[in-house]
Amino acid sequence: MTSKRALITGITGQDGSYLAEHLLSLGYEVHGIVRRVALEDPERRFTRIAHLLDKINLHAASLESYPSIFSVISRFEFEECYHLAAQSFVAESFQDGFSTMNININGTHYLLAALKELLPGCRFYFAGSSEMFGKVQETPQKETTPFHPRSPYGISKVAGFELTRNYREAYGMFCASGLLFNHEGPRRGFEFVTRKITNAAVRIKLGLATEVRLGNLDATRDWGHAADYVRAMHLMLVQPTPDDYVVASGETHSVREFCERAFAILDLDYQDFVVVDDQFYRPAEVDVLVGDASKARKVLGWKPTYTLQELIEEMVREDLRTVAGANGINLESSGISYPEASKASSYIGG
Ligand code: NAP
Ligand code: GDD
Repeated sequence: MTSKRALITGITGQDGSYLAEHLLSLGYEVHGIVRRVALEDPERRFTRIAHLLDKINLHAASLESYPSIFSVISRFEFEECYHLAAQSFVAESFQDGFSTMNININGTHYLLAALKELLPGCRFYFAGSSEMFGKVQETPQKETTPFHPRSPYGISKVAGFELTRNYREAYGMFCASGLLFNHEGPRRGFEFVTRKITNAAVRIKLGLATEVRLGNLDATRDWGHAADYVRAMHLMLVQPTPDDYVVASGETHSVREFCERAFAILDLDYQDFVVVDDQFYRPAEVDVLVGDASKARKVLGWKPTYTLQELIEEMVREDLRTVAGANGINLESSGISYPEASKASSYIGG
């Protein structure tokens, strides 16, 4: 156990909630930066961290305001800072590239600049993304693969990655970036394709919906479980030297296959319910992603514990439980069998 103090930006998000749990389990004192509006609306804005609220310390600050970030960092001696907050939805970045750039690039710069000024010894993690590889220049993608981002979001993450590397090289700060491939789970936002699919499949099974409209079913992604990936973030910050690491499962599967598997768990054929709709296509697509995480496996000793099937089963099971509960549906009396768990769930709530 440790007595270290860590700061997490984006603690209300999918990864922030899993990382907070992980650091608490290691004995950390966990602090999080949240938006002022979230503090005023905890029931809706803190759903993923509701079960942690009495164990963590939250501070209001905005990624758009250097003084607010400076103020939080001036008040505590953080040993580690995990910068996860971002406008993280790729499709939205095409709608509003300007605010995505502002939050993701300037927000990262504000944090690094404040740490340099106040706590240069604090170790810094930047949430880089496989979206930075974009139109991939080699397969599988690894730390040395050149970037070719295909969205404002991807461009903002390349800039954040370069800022992080520059603070490491220019000021000798311990700054590390994770090049994380897609990771999901029952706390995933509803707009991302995996959660959209599992949630829709469950609603269709329960008679609450009749179809789900999706875009490109042929894109392929390297999907893992967020609970596995946050462990890699922590491992990066406790190494003797700072570096950048790809974190990935090493497998790629299509959106179509994800649909097929999720619906099949509920004894449904996805082809009867999935409607392809042009509005969900992107102006530029990342067609194929598959990562080579051998460096993380070798240096960090990291490896994932979930298979894709176990991930999908957990997401379907949790959506079934919460959607049925919210709609007063008794699964047993409706004759709907609960999908068997082939892996013990890491899901705690939220
Ligand atoms: P997420 O669920 O969308 O969470 C994003 C977090 O950022 C939320 O806590 C959100 O706060 C916060 N945030 C957004 N805009 C903000 C702003 N203007 N000011 C302050 N906070 C703001 O994302 P995630 O899946 O956990 O991902 C975490 C990080 O990893 C992100 O940087 C993402 O880009 C990156 N990443 C994710 C994946 C993945 O597959 N999940 C892969 C690679 C990299 P609110 O709750 O207040 O909105
Ligand atoms: N969201 C969404 N909705 N995606 C769809 C849909 C749909 O209706 N139909 C097809 N897709 C396709 C997208 O075109 C994309 O190729 C793929 O499904 C995955 O989309 P998302 O789940 O939105 O994730 P993403 O890969 O764009 O971005 C996620 O992963 C990145 C890492 O590669 C996000 O978590 C990013 O923040 C993260 O950096």
